[in-house]
Amino acid sequence: MDTSQLEEIAHRLVVRGKGLLAADESNASCKKRFDAVKVDCTKETRREYRELLFTAPGAEKYMSGVILYDETFWQSTHAGPMFREYLKARNVVPGIKVDMGLIDLPGFEGEKLTQGLDGLPERMAEYHAAGAQFAKWRSVIAIGDGIPTDECIGANTFVLARYARICQDAGIVPIVEPEVLFDGTHSIDRCEAVMTHVYDVLFQTMRAFRVHLPGAILKTAMVLPGKNSGAGINHDDVAARTVRALHEHVPPELGGVVFLSGGQTSKDAFINLNRIAQKGPHPWGLTFSYSRALQDPVLKAWANDRTAKTEIKQLFAKQLELASAASKGELDESTLDHDDFVSHAQDL
Ligand code: 13P
Repeated sequence: MDTSQLEEIAHRLVVRGKGLLAADESNASCKKRFDAVKVDCTKETRREYRELLFTAPGAEKYMSGVILYDETFWQSTHAGPMFREYLKARNVVPGIKVDMGLIDLPGFEGEKLTQGLDGLPERMAEYHAAGAQFAKWRSVIAIGDGIPTDECIGANTFVLARYARICQDAGIVPIVEPEVLFDGTHSIDRCEAVMTHVYDVLFQTMRAFRVHLPGAILKTAMVLPGKNSGAGINHDDVAARTVRALHEHVPPELGGVVFLSGGQTSKDAFINLNRIAQKGPHPWGLTFSYSRALQDPVLKAWANDRTAKTEIKQLFAKQLELASAASKGELDESTLDHDDFVSHAQDL
């Protein structure tokens, strides 16, 4: 394992002022998003839409890397170059989602396990040879009556640790994502307790499986009250609890920390990130790895008029600029009250 190369890639991904675009929605997730704006979801429409994101002028100023789905990894821009080569030429690191999605955890109602370890070393070698420099694996932890169980947390962290070590042996930086879900009626206290416990078990397991922590990145949700709890989002409380959970339960030598947006509105996801960044210094580079919070307004605009390519690309670059400012704690939050932003920012 070339640990210094892994560390260098991890640092590039979380360098100050840049963050990640998660464009790795599975075809099923992409269909849900496209259905919501009434666009047919085909291999070509997925390619057409993602090309707009990747080729937005100025995006490379704010985007350190892009997480691709397997289909997109092997697709090309209209002009010819493969997406992954196009991104690399713009100094944007291409990454790949390698998990194969969720299955029910047998015997544990309401809990899930992520599959995809079988054959993973061979797939990793292929992605690495084709230019992938980092990977993502998403596990989910749901909060509810009697869940998460220790068995669910144990099974998912075991798989995340195994995946991470397989990545590193292939020269790829693993992003480990144990997503504690926003869905549910739980309190913010409960979310914090679950998340800190998951971090404790995760890093103990990663160490046990000999993962080189400075060459790995954590992708996490923020500490939030359940989406259906009736509690509003208090940005300062979210930021204080998220920073406390990270500072007290995530090893300082880790290669970086990135956030998912997890179904928050774009506005909440940007303001929360801004407040979190303001509570620094943090021991790691800390930034965004958003899908919906970056893309929702862009997807809507594209669905409204698929020929307005210049405007759509500008809108995406603007989203990235806001996220970048937030990642530095330098976002002027009043700009988010701009009418256009608010009208676009509702969750799809
Ligand atoms: P969201 O930002 O939409 O939560 O997606 C990020 C992601 O990659 C989830 O795995």
